[in-house]
Amino acid sequence: MPSTDHDARVWQSSELAAAYLDGIRGAIPLAAEQIDIMLRVIAARDASVHAIMDLGCGDGLLGAAVLDAYPSATGLFVDFSQPMLDAAAERLRDHAGRTQLLQLDYGRHDWVSRIAAYGPFGVVVSGYSIHHQTDSRKRELYGEILDLLAPGGVFLNVEHVASATPWVTGIFDDLFIDALHAHHRNSGGEKTRSKVAEEYYFRPDKVSNILAPVDEQCRWLRELGYADVDCHLRLLELAVFGGRKP
Ligand SMILES: C[S@@+](CC[C@H](N)C(=O)[O-])C[C@H]1O[C@@H](n2cnc3c(N)ncnc32)[C@H](O)[C@@H]1O
Repeated sequence: MPSTDHDARVWQSSELAAAYLDGIRGAIPLAAEQIDIMLRVIAARDASVHAIMDLGCGDGLLGAAVLDAYPSATGLFVDFSQPMLDAAAERLRDHAGRTQLLQLDYGRHDWVSRIAAYGPFGVVVSGYSIHHQTDSRKRELYGEILDLLAPGGVFLNVEHVASATPWVTGIFDDLFIDALHAHHRNSGGEKTRSKVAEEYYFRPDKVSNILAPVDEQCRWLRELGYADVDCHLRLLELAVFGGRKP
């Protein structure tokens, strides 16, 4: 299976999927606020929401929030990790009649032809996934997503983005380790902060991160023809940004 992001395939392991879903997702600072702003931007669109897609869905947290808000919408949940799709099936059980799960690698150029029949989409959301692609592929992908959107459709990326300098990266790392440690302790764990920090710095997916500045990614979206492009929320390396199809 040729792909542009071989390293990101670590996500296809059950161990990493479980470690992320159990130990990391719940620790992400401002996760609830990210979802809130995502839903506010979606609510501000002019047209109604019929079909939505969650790209790199993991267990489908973001797409499920959209489906909760739009009871008549259908959802396509895309990921190349079977353990993640299994977790999504579990989370989306209550929405089973209006969801479809699709295993594919959006790093491959042929992914669009497998998706097109499910669209056009009123909403495309993606969370912490696209940063595994090279910058040129990210830009291409944003163009492919624009093509898949219905007029007025919204794309929102809840994403890990680059700090301006390594000094700022250090501030983000400390914040994130504190959040991971607090989440671990609240879940009954007994690891020290330095153990959590060691695991954070040597996590298996880190090598596949290709972080890009959010300003640059917003510029790509504008150049591609998205309207109303903005970064709606940002905490250091965590950003919610996107735009809509005119
Ligand atoms: C950090 S998890 C985020 C999951 C979820 N979106 C969230 O917000 O919690 C990244 C997800 O992107 C998926 N992913 C990464 N690269 C992918 C690709 N090229 N094609 C499809 N899925 C991909 C991984 O399998 C994983 O489920």
